[in-house]
Amino acid sequence: MKLRSSRRWLVSLSFRFLLTSLSAHALDNGLARTPPMGWNSWNKFACDGLNEKVVRATADTMAANGMKDAGYHYVILDDCWQVAVSASNTGRDPQGNILVDTAKFPSGIKALADYIHSKGLKFGIYTDVGTMTCAKRSGSIGHEYQDARQYAAWGVDYLKEDWCNTLPGQSAESSYTLMRDALAAATADTAAANGAPARPILFSLCEWGSNHPWLWAGPVGNMWRSTPDIQDCWDCKKTWGGNGVTEILDQLAPLYSYAGPGHWNDPDMLEVGNGGMTTEEYRTHFSMWALLAAPLLAGNDIANMTPDTREILLNKDVIVVDQDTLGIQGHRVRKEQDLEVWSKQLADGGRAVVLLNRGSAPAQITARWTDIGYPDTLKAEIRNLWTHQDLGPATTSYAANVPSHGAVMLRIKP
Ligand code: GLA
Repeated sequence: MKLRSSRRWLVSLSFRFLLTSLSAHALDNGLARTPPMGWNSWNKFACDGLNEKVVRATADTMAANGMKDAGYHYVILDDCWQVAVSASNTGRDPQGNILVDTAKFPSGIKALADYIHSKGLKFGIYTDVGTMTCAKRSGSIGHEYQDARQYAAWGVDYLKEDWCNTLPGQSAESSYTLMRDALAAATADTAAANGAPARPILFSLCEWGSNHPWLWAGPVGNMWRSTPDIQDCWDCKKTWGGNGVTEILDQLAPLYSYAGPGHWNDPDMLEVGNGGMTTEEYRTHFSMWALLAAPLLAGNDIANMTPDTREILLNKDVIVVDQDTLGIQGHRVRKEQDLEVWSKQLADGGRAVVLLNRGSAPAQITARWTDIGYPDTLKAEIRNLWTHQDLGPATTSYAANVPSHGAVMLRIKP
C-alpha cells in the first residue's frame, strides 16, 4: 500500500515536472500558435523608402487582394519610423519619449495603427536592444518600460527588436527578457486602464542567431532570427554575414527541434518579388520557408506586384503546410550532392515533402517512403502543391524531374 502510494506520488511528481518543463519552453502569451504571417517594410523599402503612404497602400492591398484572407495579418514597420539620431537630436523628447519621423509619418503612429486595424489587420513596429537601431534611430536600452507603454498605447500587436549598437558584454538573454517583461506589464496596465481585455504583443527577437537564441529564447519570444540578414539571391554570401537562400537553408537545417507552436526559428523575411531571383527560385524560396514552418513575412512592394509574385505568395496549398497546427519544422532527410529531399510531418499524419535541386541542370529526385518515416508498403496519395494536381496513390517512393534551382513540393498522405 505504502509502496503503491509513494509510486503514485512519484508518477504525479514526474508528470508535474514534465508539464512545467513543457510550459516553460514557450512564451506564454497565447500568440503565434502557427508561424506569424504578414508584411514587413525592410526588404523592399529599407530606410529611405518607408513612409505612411507606402504602409497604407500595402494595408489596402492586403485587405483586398486575398492576402488577409490567406492569413497575412501583420503589417510591420521596420527601422526608420523614428527620427534619426544626430549631434543635435537624441531621438527622444526631454521626457525620454521616442520621437516619430513626422516627415514620413505626418498623421502619427496611432492614426496609422488605427487605420491598419480598421482594415482587419494587425500592426507591428521595430526597435533595438542597444543605444541605436542599425539605421541610427534611438534604441530602447534604458527605455524598455517607457517604450513598451508607448507601443501598448498605440495599439501595437507585434514588436521586432534588433541587436545593433549593443554595449560591450550586453547579454542578449537578459536584454530580450527585460523587453518581454516590459511588454507584458504595459499590455496588462493598458488593459486595466481601459477596462478592456489585454492585447498581448507578439515578440520577435532579431539578434541574427549570434547568441544561439534557439537554446534560450523559447520562454522569451515568439520567434527569433536564426541567421544574418537575407539577401535577394540564390546562393550569395556577404562578408558581413548576409546570406542567400541556400546558405540560410543549411543554417536552419539542424535547428528543427527547437521550433514549435508559440516559438519559431526565423530565417528572415521573404524576398519573393524583389527582383534578385528567378520566378523558379522564388517558388523554391517560398516552398522551403513553408517547409521550415518559418514566419511568412512578405518583403516586397505589395501594392505593385506581378501576377507571378502574387501567385507565389497566395499559394494556399503551400501556406497550409507552413500553418500546419502540429507546428513541426521540416528537415532534410536525404542529400546527394546538389539533390535534396526535405520532409515535414503534418497534423493529419501526412508529410509535406520538397524535392530540391540546388544544381545547375534539371535532375530526377526521389522521395523514398523510408526516408520520410513510412514503411515501403504504405499506400499514400500524392498531391503536387504547385500544379495543384492530385497524382493518385503510390507505394515505396515517388520520383519527379526538378528544374535547376527548383522545388517540387508534394503532400503525401496515407
Ligand atoms: C538589421 C535587421 C534587418 C533590419 C535592419 C534595419 O539588419 O536584421 O532585418 O531590421 O536591421 O536597420
